[in-house]
Amino acid sequence: MSEDIICRRLTGRTAVVTGAGSGIGLASARRLASEGANVVCADVDEVRGKAAAEETGGIFVHTDVTDPEQVEALFRTAYETYGSVDVAFNNAGISPPDDDSILETGLEAWKRVQEVNLTSVYLCCKAAIPYMREQGRGSVINTASFVARMGAATSQISYTASKGGVLALSRELGVQFAREGIRVNALCPGPVNTPLLRELFAKDPERAARRLVHIPLGRFAEAEEIAAAVAFLASDDSSFVNATDFLVDGGISGAYVTPL
Ligand SMILES: NC(=O)c1ccc[n+]([C@@H]2O[C@H](COP(=O)([O-])OP(=O)(O)OC[C@H]3O[C@@H](n4cnc5c(N)ncnc54)[C@H](O)[C@@H]3O)[C@@H](O)[C@H]2O)c1
Repeated sequence: MSEDIICRRLTGRTAVVTGAGSGIGLASARRLASEGANVVCADVDEVRGKAAAEETGGIFVHTDVTDPEQVEALFRTAYETYGSVDVAFNNAGISPPDDDSILETGLEAWKRVQEVNLTSVYLCCKAAIPYMREQGRGSVINTASFVARMGAATSQISYTASKGGVLALSRELGVQFAREGIRVNALCPGPVNTPLLRELFAKDPERAARRLVHIPLGRFAEAEEIAAAVAFLASDDSSFVNATDFLVDGGISGAYVTPL
């Protein structure tokens, strides 16, 4: 973020970030903290989660987002520590290699991905919204993906279905709680330049090219570009953005023919 656009839209607000130890979650924890929020970093990875909390001046709560009691304890800790739960960025997710074509993917992999990517969002919303109702204010941001909106021949069937579930769940909650001052949006990132993605595509340039050709901007997103959208959705600047699939995909979902 360049010096002249630094803003402090979240001073005094408390933001819970799941999956804060890495990637989009980490970049978002940094950005939310830089805008003045108290950041509560949740992750199953103790080392990375603690490092995120230290760096952002927040707290770490060890949380497996598939466990109802741990999720309740996460939001309770946020409330007891800082006095409010203003932002819930329900972001933790997985895309394991055994989730593939429907022809290959077994029931165990299907269920595991549904638990971590979709049931976790249900649990986090269920735990966060009562605090927000009491305050009469809150912004919930659930991480989905552009693949919830588009079909891929390079399938990860449970991942895609889980993210479609996140879209429908977010839309419904955004409508249900709108008049109580609570906005709920799904964030749909395009592919992000992560170490995992870089490694995968370094090994297989053909696979990388097959994807890049669909992106009008001609590159993957940086995690900081997704974090900027998270900060917008968290802040009052997005006060009329609700119950939407908020796409940050470089134009992928709008493209038919891309530039050479
Ligand atoms: N990276 C992309 O290209 C991309 C694109 C679209 C959507 N997304 C979505 O964005 C979100 C974040 O992705 P990322 O690329 O930053 O991933 P990442 O792997 O870099 O980070 C995910 C974090 O979630 C944590 N986590 C995993 N399971 C957990 C659990 N059960 N409980 C608590 N924490 C858990 C991990 O420890 C990790 O720190 C995911 O929901 C992902 O599906 C990613």
